[in-house]
Amino acid sequence: MRIGILGSGKGSNFRALAEAFQSGTLGCEPVIVLSDVENAGILDLAKSFDIPGHFVAPGPFRTKMAPEAEAELVQLLQEAQVDFIVLAGYMRVIKESLLKAFPGRIINIHPSLLPNFRGLAAWSQALEAGVPQTGCTVHLVDAGVDTGTILGQSIVPVLADDTAESLHARIQVAEHELYPRMVREFAQGLQKPA
Ligand code: GRF
Repeated sequence: MRIGILGSGKGSNFRALAEAFQSGTLGCEPVIVLSDVENAGILDLAKSFDIPGHFVAPGPFRTKMAPEAEAELVQLLQEAQVDFIVLAGYMRVIKESLLKAFPGRIINIHPSLLPNFRGLAAWSQALEAGVPQTGCTVHLVDAGVDTGTILGQSIVPVLADDTAESLHARIQVAEHELYPRMVREFAQGLQKPA
């Protein structure tokens, strides 16, 4: 199984996936990394892991790719012959052309226990709500924002002296364990005969 990775940020989840691949525990191969941010850390990381990385100019919108930009993503992912797509800190909403090209084959990790705290800075939302625990969720991507079928979750405690930064850091440790495990399970599920 070949996976394509989309990310906008520093790429720590991608690093966890690439390291799991290197140690032979991912069960599939990251073959291409795409970013809507030209100087994103995830593209430098891709280079350091010898995985092709490309910047795709997003166009004029803030929260989604322009249709031509999303078409370019689809083309690059199809040319790389990916079996499914893993979003790792990708900050734009996935639109119809990508969903149609990879139906049921796009997964995401979100830093809360969905369905709680969808959207941006979910760790800050959890802190403000005063919940005793939060966590991270791996889910299928659909046309909504953080609304797709939940595939797996990890729970993370919220501590009395947590700041947004300390809580996010604790959630990320859980993400780096959960995501490679979920990617492996998802790949296994796709490999099973229908
Ligand atoms: C993670 O917290 C993830 O849950 C969210 O974006 C962040 C990406 O971090 N979707 P990184 O770029 O993988 O370090």
